Amino acid sequence: MKSSIESLQQEIDRFIIESSDELETFRFRFMVRKGSIAELFNRLKNVPKAERPAYGQLLNRLKQSAEKKYDTAKKQLDALSSGHREQHFDLTLPGRTEYVGSEHPVQKVLGDMKQIFRAMGFTIATGPELERDSYNFDLLNFPANHPARDMQDTFFITREEGENNLLLRTHTSPVQIRVMLDEKPPIRVICPGKVYRNEAISARSYCVFHQLEGLYIDKNVSFADLKATVYSFAEQMFGSNVQLRFRPSFFPFTEPSAEVDVTCYLCGGKGCRVCKQSGWLEILGCGMVHPNVLRNCSIDPEEFSGFAFGMGVDRTALLRYKIDDIRLLFENDVRMLEQFSQ
Ligand code: PHE
Repeated sequence: MKSSIESLQQEIDRFIIESSDELETFRFRFMVRKGSIAELFNRLKNVPKAERPAYGQLLNRLKQSAEKKYDTAKKQLDALSSGHREQHFDLTLPGRTEYVGSEHPVQKVLGDMKQIFRAMGFTIATGPELERDSYNFDLLNFPANHPARDMQDTFFITREEGENNLLLRTHTSPVQIRVMLDEKPPIRVICPGKVYRNEAISARSYCVFHQLEGLYIDKNVSFADLKATVYSFAEQMFGSNVQLRFRPSFFPFTEPSAEVDVTCYLCGGKGCRVCKQSGWLEILGCGMVHPNVLRNCSIDPEEFSGFAFGMGVDRTALLRYKIDDIRLLFENDVRMLEQFSQ
């Protein structure tokens, strides 16, 4: 018994505890109910009665030395690990965040518009910004040399005679031509994108801007469908209490044609600087697709009818985010753009 106690004491003394794993091994080896020290306590009952108190004392000392070693090692390890943490992590430092870009205000507005039309069953069609003269004008029922072409000051890229002339598209209507040439009705698409016009640059107009146009062609599509679509869009985009005003207008590719105003959503229709005291803001042009346009795309106007609409995106972005100069939208100045990061 005596030698067992002595050799266990040596073992305890020599045991090196430098990690929490070793600490746990130590505890398991010596201190638990089935550990080596407990085992010796069990053997006490086999010792002659007279010697028991003396061995009892020795065993108690052994037990205490194991506990002491355990406690000291545990304290040291705890101190070490918290010291370690302090050294490497200063929890009071502000976190380092990655620089993430932000969505451009125009893209935010465009995103909202697309979402509304998508929910109504429109799909998105895109086309090139460098466009054929014929798709931008002729097939849309702008006759050659017709003054209607002057409605949109055009950047011509080539100056050839005929339909292969190239230009920067002045509206996204040529995308609708492309869709009609490719697909048969029913057709229900929106065409968002950049368009170009050779206009005097000012705080209110720029040589490039964004449009979103829409086209719906099927049997028995009427002006009532157009109105319902535009109403539904305007309510979702500008608020459920907007009022709309359809004014007769002219576009070569639609007949009849209209321009649509909404009650100014900044002053609620009372009249302010933005709506020039009129209480109305113009939001889009629209109309029933001209039979000539349908015929140009091999769609029979006796069988099918359709409506089209087109609106500018940038102005809505300017109004929504209270930006007072359209040029800011195209300068790509990070100080301006990062204000829209939420
Ligand atoms: N394409 C026209 C424009 O750019 C807008 C429009 C589209 C008008 C469709 C009516 C119908 O001005």
